[in-house]
Amino acid sequence: MQFAGFTLRNNLFVAPMAGVTDRPFRQLCKSLGAGLAVSEMVTSNSLLYGSAKTRRRADHQGEADPISVQIAGADPRLMADAAKYNVDHGAQIIDINMGCPAKKVCNVMAGSALMQDQPLVAKILAAVVSAVPGTPVTLKLRTGWNRDNRNAAAIAGIAESCGIRALAIHGRTRSDQYQGAAEYDTIAAVKARVGIPVIANGDIDTPQKAKSVLAHTGADGVMIGRAAQGRPWIFREIEHYLATGTTLPPPTAAEIHGILRRHLADLYAFYGEETGVKIARKHISWYTKGLGGAAQFRARMNQLSDVDEQFAAADEFFLYHAANDSPCHARAAEETEGALAA
Ligand SMILES: Cc1cc2nc3c(=O)[nH]c(=O)nc-3n(C[C@H](O)[C@H](O)[C@H](O)COP(=O)(O)O)c2cc1C
Repeated sequence: MQFAGFTLRNNLFVAPMAGVTDRPFRQLCKSLGAGLAVSEMVTSNSLLYGSAKTRRRADHQGEADPISVQIAGADPRLMADAAKYNVDHGAQIIDINMGCPAKKVCNVMAGSALMQDQPLVAKILAAVVSAVPGTPVTLKLRTGWNRDNRNAAAIAGIAESCGIRALAIHGRTRSDQYQGAAEYDTIAAVKARVGIPVIANGDIDTPQKAKSVLAHTGADGVMIGRAAQGRPWIFREIEHYLATGTTLPPPTAAEIHGILRRHLADLYAFYGEETGVKIARKHISWYTKGLGGAAQFRARMNQLSDVDEQFAAADEFFLYHAANDSPCHARAAEETEGALAA
């Protein structure tokens, strides 16, 4: 796919998720079939540039191209500075966040809260685009402020005229938060209005759903967030289905074990062992969801604070499942829950 001046392997995008889409996770998703992975959002508050968290979020060493970094904020000048800062630190695409309903972001009128102030949106977009003339700028937004104000198409028009190169749209309004089902009619309306690529996002969790959302919206690609947690191979499954119309068999326990081991090693190397072990816990719990004995395993895992212990516990769990040829990610294995507790 041609996207903002880059040729991508396909039209499948990893959604930016604060606390999830760090460099190890982005790398993993790219290696398992994602065409592009957008970074966790980086604040435009320059006071935080020096913090360990912000420096880590701007660390793209060894990451496969293109590197897309999301910035969030509401002040056009600070957003322009943040774009420049991130381009100086390796960003090849700047993505602007107008999609996040988090209180931390919205209380300062940023994220999706910005969608109710179209003149300010225009100022921010124009300031960022002109601050990084050699770098494409993309925008992530929701369908609107609330169900009575679904103004994504109006914002999309503003964005296109400001020089934004592509849009990702989550099919919920800001006030929906994550409630209800995503709707795709507004995304279709945006696609009909603009000439730049439109990426559809929200509740896409199977290859079949990806195909139907592409057909319904006419979008150029799909973006997947929560369904990739503990299941980064969803990208190759969708890629295969879109190309062939057939589904890949789910990965075996042995294969998931190998993917998890690689992921854990990357997390320890990226964060250091102490923080790496803590960050790894949520990923491990996602990988084990639906497998027999997962609840007991997770409880035990949360007590372990050492890399060797965490590795050994993950090995024990997955070797058990590999030996028993467990069905993976059937998400209905509760009846075997407890098998490991003995
Ligand atoms: C844990 C988490 C963190 C998120 N952080 C961001 C973020 O930093 N920036 C953003 O634009 N969207 C963020 N989102 C929203 C996702 O990018 C995506 O739009 C949303 O989850 C809907 O897609 P999905 O149904 O595929 O998960 C976040 C979502 C989750 C679950």
